[in-house]
Amino acid sequence: MGCSIDPGGYDIGTRIRAGNGPWQTWFQPNKRDDKSLKAVGVFGISEALKCRATRVECGVRDMVSFNKTRANMEPLALSKAFTLLEPGPVVLVTTHDGRKPNIMTITWTMVRGFSAEFAMTTGPWNHSYRALRDSRECVLAIPTVDLIDTAVGIGTCSGEDTDKFEKFRLTPLPARYVQAPLIGECLANIECRVVDIIERYSIVLLEGVAAYVDSTRTEKRMLHAVGDGSFIVDGARIDRREMMRSKLPSGV
Ligand SMILES: Cc1cc2nc3c(=O)[nH]c(=O)nc-3n(C[C@H](O)[C@H](O)[C@H](O)COP(=O)(O)O)c2cc1C
Repeated sequence: MGCSIDPGGYDIGTRIRAGNGPWQTWFQPNKRDDKSLKAVGVFGISEALKCRATRVECGVRDMVSFNKTRANMEPLALSKAFTLLEPGPVVLVTTHDGRKPNIMTITWTMVRGFSAEFAMTTGPWNHSYRALRDSRECVLAIPTVDLIDTAVGIGTCSGEDTDKFEKFRLTPLPARYVQAPLIGECLANIECRVVDIIERYSIVLLEGVAAYVDSTRTEKRMLHAVGDGSFIVDGARIDRREMMRSKLPSGV
């Protein structure tokens, strides 16, 4: 089986179709520890490229650097990751079921502490759930107000019959520690591992392992769901940091 990869090369994050099968994937150079993956090319800075779709070597060159492929996503200290979710924004959750990525919209989330510990309410009624449960990984991507129709659209169709990255023209970017992709168009992304699932209450407990923010974005207003189909957009920010100092972790 061959790989239909343009020998001119693709950026990491580019989706490819391998062989004649239904498999679609994108290059992920960050899964060194995954024995099921096989190196298929040589990255510009000697990173081994992995192609999950086949075990056939494919010629790939002219790759961009690994960091560049995360576009404007600058690393954010994990100790500050909770500040992305504490305001309770609409969140897009990406998963990867081993074959392809998917996205769902989530608003039932919570912060469990200052150290990148989160929870969300979801369950088997969503297609994403199986990937979440089996891979025990996801990315929490935070959209801004300009993505409102995308966020609602993603939350009103299913990955069971829809390729949401394609349908909503979103860019999957390679995460560092998980197979689920970051979303390039979002303000921020948090790579997470699933640490537990309390099935009785449909609560998924997450632990952040890496966080990123696109500080080059001019639109930074997040969305907040009221729950009746209407949304509130971020407004003025009021500073009470000094007053709250005794309750805040250092460095925040
Ligand atoms: C604004 C909004 C908020 C949502 N919040 C949640 C939520 O917190 N938990 C949940 O399980 N589903 C939530 N949903 C529904 C899922 O996003 C929806 O069922 C989606 O189609 C699941 O996609 P999937 O089947 O590809 O996983 C929300 C949908 C919208 C539009």
